[in-house]
Order: sequence, then structure tokens, then C-alpha cells
Amino acid sequence: MFSRALALFSLASVVLGQSASPSRLTGRLPALGWNTWNAYRCNINEAKVLGAANQFLSLGLKDAGYQYVNIDVGLLVEQDESRSGRIIPDPTKFPNGISGLADQIHALGLKIGIYSDAGTATCAGYPGSLGNETIDAATFSDWGIDYLKYDNCNVPANWTDSTSPPGGDWYNSNSALRYRQMGDALAAQPRPIQYELCIWGRANVWEWGARVGHSWRMSGDSKPTWSYITSIIKTNVAHLDYTNFWSHNDMDMMEIGVFPSSLSSAAPDRSLLGNGNLTVEEQRTHFAAWAFLKSPILLGTDLSKLNSTQLDIIKNKELLAFHQDPIIGTAATPFNATSSAPTTSPPEYYSGASSKGLHVFIINTGNATDTKTFTLSNVPGLGTSGTFKVHDMWTGKDFAGTYAASDDFSVSVEAHDTAAYLLKRV
Ligand code: GAL
Repeated sequence: MFSRALALFSLASVVLGQSASPSRLTGRLPALGWNTWNAYRCNINEAKVLGAANQFLSLGLKDAGYQYVNIDVGLLVEQDESRSGRIIPDPTKFPNGISGLADQIHALGLKIGIYSDAGTATCAGYPGSLGNETIDAATFSDWGIDYLKYDNCNVPANWTDSTSPPGGDWYNSNSALRYRQMGDALAAQPRPIQYELCIWGRANVWEWGARVGHSWRMSGDSKPTWSYITSIIKTNVAHLDYTNFWSHNDMDMMEIGVFPSSLSSAAPDRSLLGNGNLTVEEQRTHFAAWAFLKSPILLGTDLSKLNSTQLDIIKNKELLAFHQDPIIGTAATPFNATSSAPTTSPPEYYSGASSKGLHVFIINTGNATDTKTFTLSNVPGLGTSGTFKVHDMWTGKDFAGTYAASDDFSVSVEAHDTAAYLLKRV
């Protein structure tokens, strides 16, 4: 009864437009971590999650900045939709409960994430949080949760948006109200909880996401295909103005890794399942683009099976430093590389600033090795004078020679690969 009264109070505040702001004690930088879904689907348990947490340490991922160990769908026992009490973790999968697991993850110096849904049930049919936001947020906080991914399945018809919201403001749409209810409930907890709106790019979420949470999914689920990588970059590029501190367009979880063998017989089409289907060059572009567009980077593979090339990609210090820059929160944006550069979709040339200086990123979207060229003075903010060294962020080395602002820099880029540079004034 008490919790229902609180839920009604919170709903009334939302309707009156008195939403609480998302916590400023978390979520300033895009999240770096891991999530169970791409590798394990619902087949998860404490050993797999703790195993990943320990691999953060043994593989040097924690030292590289990876922090969040996130449990996706499949952690609960089934409960009636009309439940009035707390959600219950599956005792077979999680014998120490989620709080027991959280203690162990915190003891490793890491953070733990959990999953719920802004509908009556999750996509996999476990209890959702719609109508139970207050009690569920309190439960997450009591368990020691640091991050919530909030999905968008099983939404009752009266909570959907078939047309534009009143006044055209998507912040007041039914979709936003569902996410705002949970945002308010989280903000009322003593524990800062980073809040991911897993709303699949619906309801113009980029326009209001930062008022409700810290990051928001821009699309449906990621796939280990080149077409997914290029299409999500294209989608995100149209909305980069919304990315800054505490405000992140989420391009979805990483597909770098190995194909999950437990899934091969169930669904032999690898392009439909997580990981293991991208060339090395495509994995480099996947990581680099998520880094320079400042999307959360949540690995999604069995970490113990990563090879050294993949580990080198996901631990690249300079790309991670750009992604986690403490001074500049904005993403790199497309620029016109030369006066005659062709227009592509997605764009191939991006520039952005970090606390180290100006960077250039070049994606070869073509299917063959190609020479890519930019004029240094075309990089916004570089100016028209001075002498520069071009530093390769992948190798950590400078190219021989120096370049004047009026010079062109040309480089051969493999099909689907991404070059990453820092321009150093000398
Ligand atoms: C989807 C979501 C995925 C994953 C899945 C679990 O809606 O986009 O990232 O969480 O649900 O069922």
C-alpha cells in the first residue's frame, strides 16, 4: 500500500513536470564496461558474471578504464504482473543474490549494472518495472547497484505513442513519461545509479534523454555486421549535438569478440547473433567510432576467448583517452577533408578536440584499400599557419616529417578500417 502511494506521488510529480534531474555523481563520461547479453543471452549466472569481473583484472581491462560489469535480462524468477513486493533474483543462477554478487564485484574495485524494463515484463518475459518504479529503484539501491539499463518491451497500449505528443514535445510523450518515472525513482535513492534508456531510438530520445538519464540507445540491437556499424554511425552522426558530459548517444553493445558457441546450433546465422563475425579492420572501426563518437563502450563477449589483436584494439590507450577525456565532453564531428572530397554516407572524415589537441579520424567505408587525404587547415580549429607532426593513435608513433597547415596528408587505409590521428603543433 505504502509503495503504491509513493508510486502515485511520483507519477503525479512527473505529470506536473517536476521531474528530478539525473544524478551528477555518475555518468559524466560514457560508460566503459561489459554486459552479459551478446555472449550469453538469458543463460547467465553468478560464475559467468564474476568470471568476467575477474578478467577485467587479469586482462588489464580494469587498468585500461573498464569499470561496469552489467547483468542483462534473465536474472529474475518469473513473478505475477500484479506483484506488490520486490523482484526476486533467480536463486539457482545467483545463489548469493544480486547483493552478494555486488559485494564481490565491488571488492574487485568494479561497479555492477542491472537490467529492467519500462513495461509490464521484460522482452524475455521476466517482471518489468512499469508501475513498480519506486520499489524496484529502492531494491537496486539496497543491492548496491551502480547502473541500470532500462528496456522498452511489453508496454501497455495506453503507454505507447502512436502520434506526436501534445505540443510536439517528446519530453511529454508517454514513452518519456515511462522513463521519467524510473528516473525520478532512481534520483530519490541514496545511491547514485547511472541510467541507460534502452529505448531503441524511439520518441526522439536524444532531445530529452539528458534530462532523464545519462545515455540512450539510438537504435534496435547491434549486430556483428558491417551494415550495422555503418548504419548506426549514420544515425548517430545526425544527432551529435546532443553528446557531451552526462549526455551520451548509445550505439549499443560491442560485437568485438568470439562467436558464442553455445548459440551456434540454435541459430546458425552468425550475422544475427552477437560477436565473431567482423574482420579485424571492421572491429577497429567499431571500437574507434564508438570511442570518437563518445558512445558507451560495453563489451559483449566471453572475455576469456579474446585474442591478442582484439585485446589490443579494446585496450588502445589513446582512443580510450579521447573517449574518457576529462576536459572535453563533445564527440568528433564530420568535416570536409579537402575542397574536392566526395560526400559519403556515413561520412568518412571526422575531427574533434581532446585535452591533448586536435584529432582526425578517417573511416574507409569502401570495399577496397584506398588513399585518403585531408588538408590540415580544413580541420576545424587548426587555423591556417604553423607546422605539425601527425601522430598515429593506433601505433603510438609519429609519422616522419612535418606538415604545414596548407599541406595535404595522405594515407592508405584498408577496406572498412579506421585511421586515428593526433595533430601535434611543433
Ligand atoms: C532488447 C535490448 C537488448 C537486450 C534484449 C534482452 O530489447 O535492446 O540490448 O537487452 O532486449 O531481451
